[in-house]
Amino acid sequence: MTALPVPLGLLAELTHRCPLQCPYCSNPLDLVRASHELDTRTWVRVMEEAAALGIAHVHLSGGEPLARPDLAEITNAAHLSGLYTNLITAAVGLNAQRLAELRAAGLDHVQISFQGIAPEQADAIAHVKGAFRAKKDAARLVCDEGLALTVNAVIHRSNVGDVSGFIDLAVELGAGRLEIAHVQYHGWALANRAHLMPTRAQFEATRSVVEDARRRLEGTLVIDHVMPDYLAERPKACMGGWGQQVMVVTPDGRTLPCHAATTIPDLVFANVRTSSLAEIWGHDEAFNRFRGTAWMPSPCQGCERAEIDWGGCRCQALAITGNAAVTDPVCSLSPSHDLMATLASEAPARPGYRFRRIGG
Ligand code: SF4
Ligand code: FES
Repeated sequence: MTALPVPLGLLAELTHRCPLQCPYCSNPLDLVRASHELDTRTWVRVMEEAAALGIAHVHLSGGEPLARPDLAEITNAAHLSGLYTNLITAAVGLNAQRLAELRAAGLDHVQISFQGIAPEQADAIAHVKGAFRAKKDAARLVCDEGLALTVNAVIHRSNVGDVSGFIDLAVELGAGRLEIAHVQYHGWALANRAHLMPTRAQFEATRSVVEDARRRLEGTLVIDHVMPDYLAERPKACMGGWGQQVMVVTPDGRTLPCHAATTIPDLVFANVRTSSLAEIWGHDEAFNRFRGTAWMPSPCQGCERAEIDWGGCRCQALAITGNAAVTDPVCSLSPSHDLMATLASEAPARPGYRFRRIGG
């Protein structure tokens, strides 16, 4: 038996509440209600346990983590435990006072998502008027506070032509990093796939724009480019591999190997209300189910990439083939690979987006 890896990151989904309603959200359709969220004391304990387990980074996420009035307290617990703290936010409601409070609590880094490069288009995706302006204001505050800023641009059919504009926006705002992240089809994004999927030609055009900008902006802006899975030939190591690098804690305390794991019907998840992170990481059945390579089917079994991509994404394998235990169909060696192209060009079954909302 191989040694248990040390987890690197904790994705703390503090709440599923969010003022925005983006149709590409990867949160589950069955969003957790505020009344079921963990209390402050439990989140503080989770931060302490994460650091004791060897975790280095905590991503304070959601939904919108600013919806938690105790965000500074949780951030401070993470900081005092020695964790690097990254706030993943839509930034609507991030004013100077809140930001100063978070900085004083030990916040290290802020990642702000932008839905578009102009108010009308961005607000239409977020389904909230004024969101774009509020985000720009918040991004400037982050830089004024001297905090590191990443701009996250989620790319889909209606903004895929704006990659160059996103790069200009990130430079204008003073970001050190830009994520050009094509939609990952989980949760609400999967429900809206036919509306969001770009064509291959649209995607290919983004590559050269990013390559040119990387050369031009070397030393000023780091640009990550996350490829759309449906147009790829080899899968990514989702979450760095199942049970290899990341723990996700949902707003109600369930602890998952990835953010979409609750879609896998026969998995039961431990909860931080009753188990420690160390117990869950080391012994939980759900974490062990697809950990390592022993579970792998053909053609992954024995493949030279088995410990590079770990067979790809379990949740995507389930969503496409109905079986979480098969090779991710992104892989061209998968017998279901051709299905990806068919699904990528599927026509929408309904006229407009299904916007993300609790009970929606
Ligand atoms: Fe990765 Fe499996 Fe494809 Fe090999 S066969 S490249 S391990 S998904
Ligand atoms: Fe669950 Fe990829 S999202 S393994």
